[in-house]
Amino acid sequence: MRPFPITDDIHWVGAVAWATRDFHGYSRSPFGTTYNAFLVKDEKITLLDTVEEENKDELFCNVASLLGGDLTRVDYIVVNHLEPDHAGCLVEAVERMKPEKIFCSPMGAKNIRSIYHHDDWPLEICPTGHVASIGKRTMQFIETRMLHWPDNMATYIPEEKMLFSSDAFGQNMATSERFADEVDRDKLLRALKEYYANIVQPFSPIVIKTLDALAKLNLDVEMILPDHGLIWRGQDCAWVLERYREFATAKPAKRALVIYDTMWHSTEHMAEAVASGIAAEGVPVKVMNVKNDHHSTIMTELFDSGALVVGCPTHNNGILPAMAGVLQYFKGLRPLNKVGGCFGSFGWSGESVKILAEWLDKIGVEMVGGDPIKVQNRPDHETFTRCHEYGRAIARELKTKIEAFS
Ligand SMILES: [Fe+2]
Ligand SMILES: [Fe+2]
Repeated sequence: MRPFPITDDIHWVGAVAWATRDFHGYSRSPFGTTYNAFLVKDEKITLLDTVEEENKDELFCNVASLLGGDLTRVDYIVVNHLEPDHAGCLVEAVERMKPEKIFCSPMGAKNIRSIYHHDDWPLEICPTGHVASIGKRTMQFIETRMLHWPDNMATYIPEEKMLFSSDAFGQNMATSERFADEVDRDKLLRALKEYYANIVQPFSPIVIKTLDALAKLNLDVEMILPDHGLIWRGQDCAWVLERYREFATAKPAKRALVIYDTMWHSTEHMAEAVASGIAAEGVPVKVMNVKNDHHSTIMTELFDSGALVVGCPTHNNGILPAMAGVLQYFKGLRPLNKVGGCFGSFGWSGESVKILAEWLDKIGVEMVGGDPIKVQNRPDHETFTRCHEYGRAIARELKTKIEAFS
């Protein structure tokens, strides 16, 4: 994509990664992504963030086209975040642009050496409150530690009422549009949730504190420019801040997710019976075979669900590997305020249900609905009835939890 003028002097100069599906090596981005970077043409020409190594030519061409082909006209580079999707071409950018200053957070300065192996760069270290002039405009820096790395910071330009927020408020979407109000809102919300659920979620308590700290700063913000996806402007700024508070608060939703793995369909049929019980209580439910979807897609479904019910047969005294992978992934993302249960079939030893219960405990899911259900070999009518009742009991306890939360 060619540079996009946000104002006369501020241009989007990033890259649109239409074909990207693998995000950070562990998450899936079904709509591609964008790596946003911004060039401010003031007395000091300032580049805010760079892009992933693979997309560097798009960035360099975009910047060069705005500077008469001369990349050395860039005076300052702001590194809001060291992760390679935003700083992967930083070494080459520094070599080609020869900036007078590189702005980064204190944690960024600590980590630049170990990530990019340079200790001779002209760093200006920017704790929260640090201010730098670029001519007619100033940059105010706000550390946003653990949102989602220790080094993350945001850059605020008060004269433009613009907050460059790094990964916060980003979404993985490859689009020709640049503003959030130009695309389908449902799809955008899904992408915002998917990003939060898979990248930001473990740090929800810090998100609340960061939102409170931002509110205290009382910044006049008319545009929030994240490093992925669409830019928020006007009323959308308040809208996205509110969505983040909602995500971080994690009020349990009246919705359940049943995930399972299966060998010869016994556990699969139990999953269907559990789901029928949940639905019978008026709680919408989704059933997913963990082998059919990427673990990050399943995580996004869980993010929207107040209950997680897990089924797996016993295999070699344990659980099946796809299920183990999903549960390990869930544990790391620390979902909040979920209830749930587990079930499974077995041939002879029958450890899976106990192992699933231990996983739910490690993930932080509160076990409800009574004893988990395990069945030897194939479930019969009586077992399906128990599964149905188990689903009903979990749904009832979810509804009680929702009432208690509000
Ligand atoms: Fe990041
Ligand atoms: Fe990122």
